[in-house]
Amino acid sequence: MAKKDLNPRYQDPNYEPVVNESGNTPFASVLASRMRRRTVMKGSVGAALAGLMATTLVGCSDDEDGDNAGPGDTAQASQRELGFTAVAVSTLNEVVVPEGYSAKAFVPWGTPLTGTLPDFLPDGSNTGADQEQQVGMHHDGIHFFSIDLKTGGDSSAEGLLVMNHEYINQDALHAAGATYVAGARPEDEVRKEVAAHGVSVIHVMRDSRGEWTVVHGSPYHRRITGATEMEIRGPLRGFDKLYTKFSTDGTRTRGTLNNCAMGPTPWGTYLAAEENWHGYFANGDANPPKEHQRHGVGDASRYDWELVEGGADAYVRFNATSIGASAIEDYRNEPNTYGYMVEIDPFEPASKPQKRTALGRFGHEGVIFAPVTEGQPVVCYSGDDSRFEYIYKFVSSKPYYATTADGSLLDEGTLYVARFRDDGTGEWLPLSMDDANFVAKMNAAVTTGMVGNISFDEPFASQADLLVNTRLAADIAGATPMDRPEWGAVDPVSGEVYFTLTNNSRRTEHQTNASNPQGPNPNGHIIRWQELGGDYAATDFEWDIFVFAGEEGTETVVDGEAVVTLDADNHFNSPDGLWFDSKGKLWIQTDGSDAPPYQNNMMLAANPATRDIRRFFVGPVGCEVTGVVTTPDCRTMFVNIQHPDGFWPDAGSERPRDATVIVTKDDGGVIGS
Ligand code: FEO
Ligand code: CA
Ligand code: CA
Ligand code: CA
Repeated sequence: MAKKDLNPRYQDPNYEPVVNESGNTPFASVLASRMRRRTVMKGSVGAALAGLMATTLVGCSDDEDGDNAGPGDTAQASQRELGFTAVAVSTLNEVVVPEGYSAKAFVPWGTPLTGTLPDFLPDGSNTGADQEQQVGMHHDGIHFFSIDLKTGGDSSAEGLLVMNHEYINQDALHAAGATYVAGARPEDEVRKEVAAHGVSVIHVMRDSRGEWTVVHGSPYHRRITGATEMEIRGPLRGFDKLYTKFSTDGTRTRGTLNNCAMGPTPWGTYLAAEENWHGYFANGDANPPKEHQRHGVGDASRYDWELVEGGADAYVRFNATSIGASAIEDYRNEPNTYGYMVEIDPFEPASKPQKRTALGRFGHEGVIFAPVTEGQPVVCYSGDDSRFEYIYKFVSSKPYYATTADGSLLDEGTLYVARFRDDGTGEWLPLSMDDANFVAKMNAAVTTGMVGNISFDEPFASQADLLVNTRLAADIAGATPMDRPEWGAVDPVSGEVYFTLTNNSRRTEHQTNASNPQGPNPNGHIIRWQELGGDYAATDFEWDIFVFAGEEGTETVVDGEAVVTLDADNHFNSPDGLWFDSKGKLWIQTDGSDAPPYQNNMMLAANPATRDIRRFFVGPVGCEVTGVVTTPDCRTMFVNIQHPDGFWPDAGSERPRDATVIVTKDDGGVIGS
């Protein structure tokens, strides 16, 4: 998310705080000895940026018929080609798409969905109870599940649109913004704010005229909010650091918050990520535990829910200060029940969401699954979007079989963290108490008593203790601190895994390395890797940089040759959302400032084989363009617009409404073709 719509009372230090002070610089002195390719960035004036390290590419081929692992690609090569004329940057307060395409806002914040179907009231006077039955705010990650998916179908005319509501704009949400009565928050305002978060499941259908509509009265419609009861699953289920007054055995919690990106699972469920959840809690203890410190939980919360009038338990739980006699008499451990990937089955409206703790506890931006193979482990990747945080991979212990696969596959396995070497190779470091190397490093850290600036005077007591402290474990393992990993995507043709590194204003020149070669990194870049032998479960990989973002003239240079020179058709900054459609086109969404030369945030399409990149979509003023999916036939695209300014999408109203935008090609063709 971009720093927008945050309560001005909530000060900047808790927004994506730099809490990794571990100083991991695993390859400061390691230089490539067998480089085959060097990828460097050049600035717009053509001069190489000073201090850039070389990066290499060993196995990542630009050739469609190269020796990469992955399915055969000949049939798909032409489908990756971009067939539209790029759109220019824009400052308009509307969505811009190429000639021959149409865009239309759909399911904006406040759309009635369940129960009594309360109408959206444009003066902000809807109640908390209303909001619980309406689409939430600040749309982000989104996926389309064909309605017949569970029976092997791939309908492009009817499905469940599932989306996250990352955070809120209190000024837009309420008639007169957030209010306080003698320092307390009115309970219904808090109820409404909690309800505007979470996830919406929306049953949608295309009618005979080709118009998408919300299916009236569908039993699939569902709101999951910051209050919905959830199960803790995996190694942290029942762990004592998750005991609370609400769940004295550490098996349940309430709500999911700050759901940024997502990932559909191979078995047809949805995983919502919990990203900047730390900001919802306040801990006034003099010495907060490392489980809070390493995430930046501070003594004030973003929305002051814990200051609710009347002291309802549902909201005072956001006070993580030790005020009771023990952990089961207060909410000191409530923040330890957040920081996970949350599994939701959109086809089972009565199902309880499941927090899958084996995937680690951090600021999950999202998750991306590798293609599955019968009898092989399930593999997924997740980035931790804060400055100098890491990229993780989970490999299940149990093999995947299509007929029996379910979320329990995510409860047992190995969590790894990425180390990118300067020579273009990399390795996945296991975060495991069963790994002798990890245990040796952990014991060495205990000897020094510190990990970064966090006291570490005894080893993790168990794998559960390690996982609740995933970031610290990754520090100990020697992972590579990245420039804010956002979304990942897996190329269906080559099998390469792509991740956006959105930017990093705090990296110094001294802290650069080949995978994060700019200090500071104002515009971001996109990194990619190929697992050794094409085996997603492998512990070694080879990586390179796909493209450096920046203004016109920014070059991505491989072996002295500019493979991309950004121009008027494709200059962009702060890549964030990233998604491959089934044809193998890569969609890149931005979350930068609205300043020139980039202007409003945008979405570009890329042909990964040729690095042809073109601007396809520009959002309205003030927004972040985040979340994209198409129907399986690639003929309807859903794109989310988060935190627009006023007068969008309702031209007559100054109250902004986050919304999904439906993009179609006027001739009914494949989007981007
Ligand atoms: Fe919610 Fe990292 O964007
Ligand atoms: Ca966002
Ligand atoms: Ca972002
Ligand atoms: Ca994001």
